[in-house]
Amino acid sequence: MADTQNKARTLKFDIFRYNPAEPDVAPKMQRFELAEAPYMSLYIALNELREQQDPSLQFDFSCRSAVCGSCGMMVNGRPTLACQTLTADLPETIALHPLPTFELIGDLSVDTGRWFRRMVEQVHGWIERQDAFEPTAEEERMDDATAEAIYERDRCIECGCCVAGCGVANVRPDFLGAAGLNRIARFMMDPRDQRPKPAWFEVVSDADGVFGCIGLMACDDLCPKDLPLLDVYGYLRRKALASALTPNAKDSSLS
Ligand code: SF4
Ligand code: FES
Repeated sequence: MADTQNKARTLKFDIFRYNPAEPDVAPKMQRFELAEAPYMSLYIALNELREQQDPSLQFDFSCRSAVCGSCGMMVNGRPTLACQTLTADLPETIALHPLPTFELIGDLSVDTGRWFRRMVEQVHGWIERQDAFEPTAEEERMDDATAEAIYERDRCIECGCCVAGCGVANVRPDFLGAAGLNRIARFMMDPRDQRPKPAWFEVVSDADGVFGCIGLMACDDLCPKDLPLLDVYGYLRRKALASALTPNAKDSSLS
């Protein structure tokens, strides 16, 4: 953290303003000023601006602790979680924009839910079984290494920062992005999922999947939960190749 906690600063916020419900009012950047307080986060700063200066300012927060994923925004051009960003780590002038690629609700608020819902439906982001449900059957055991690998992928909070920072997702709305490919990997590793290999191959192996990535890897730099997104791409490319070579063999191995 930069050593600015003891220096009194007046922060200047340049905030994107636009309400799609009022299309006749052109988008603009609006400047606000605010006295910085010790350990002030962007969450605190934006709430003070809304309470004290402009109650119409739109932005999203819920958990304030990097858990709900709702406060993603562009901070000086970089997608990040506002609740875990301290103003002390930023320059005196802070530009805030909504995340690109997602539908704008207003000002800094975007609808990530619609994007993630479409992605989950596109990849069938749930466990698929071929056998009939047997309610009295015992729960299947899972070894620790598999459970940990699945948990690592389940840590995604669906904030959208990786998607907003992805050069491909910004120009191709159907590209699954790191969040979508991470979701596929999570179920591919799960031994309870009984999808045949060709079904995986179909969602992973086209230009909307892992081969649409052009290797910029901003997702891996930007993920606020430090998910191993580079590993996800490598894992899926190996699996896609294995699927093409041996389409009928069952494989939920972790490598
Ligand atoms: Fe956010 Fe990381 Fe999940 Fe992408 S992978 S949505 S950056 S938590
Ligand atoms: Fe929940 Fe920031 S408010 S992640």
